[in-house]
Amino acid sequence: MKKRLGPSDRLYPMPAVLVCGGTIEDADACAVAWCGICATNPPRIAIALRGSRHTLERIRTSGTLTVNTVRADDVAVLDYFGITPGKDIDKFAASGWTLEPSVVVEAPRIAECPYQLECRVTHEIELGSHVLLIAEVVESHAEEAVLDETGEKCDVGTLDPLVYIAGSREYRRLGEKLADAYSIGRSVGREG
Ligand SMILES: Cc1cc2nc3c(=O)[nH]c(=O)nc-3n(C[C@H](O)[C@H](O)[C@H](O)COP(=O)(O)O)c2cc1C
Repeated sequence: MKKRLGPSDRLYPMPAVLVCGGTIEDADACAVAWCGICATNPPRIAIALRGSRHTLERIRTSGTLTVNTVRADDVAVLDYFGITPGKDIDKFAASGWTLEPSVVVEAPRIAECPYQLECRVTHEIELGSHVLLIAEVVESHAEEAVLDETGEKCDVGTLDPLVYIAGSREYRRLGEKLADAYSIGRSVGREG
């Protein structure tokens, strides 16, 4: 028996990343859970921000942003960036976290984050409570220590990214690997 819960903005789980805009001299960043890759060619990411976010104002100055993956061990810093409005506070100075220049876009990257996407905003869609930014991912960076044996992609166990659980409002880290994707499903429906 299922209980009807009505319209919901919850999906379990969600990512928890830091989105950064502005310049290396004047940047702001905030925690974002409502985001996800939405196209491959060219690669694009969708990010939903409330219109009141100071980070959105900083993003609009250059039309660029970075998406920065936070290690699970750094959960307190991500939460700080998610509970502190940056209009009158320099969250970087307060937290001790630092910026590094991007290679392609103006918005800087967050140096303490092991995986970073450089993005250029291509669409801004007004959704009422939120503005949906669609941004092209024009470059990506990973610390060598979080790369797998191919050297081309992240080892998610080493990356150890944060996950956000809406509703209960808690952070978690990923669990163990279950199976190979695009593969385990081949066993379904076969006999024996
Ligand atoms: C776990 C977590 C996830 C969040 N996700 C979003 C989000 O997806 N979109 C959004 O607009 N705000 C989100 N927030 C709230 C902003 O991070 C928060 O309001 C922040 O203080 C805004 O800072 P700013 O005004 O300096 O941009 C989230 C906060 C937390 C703690």
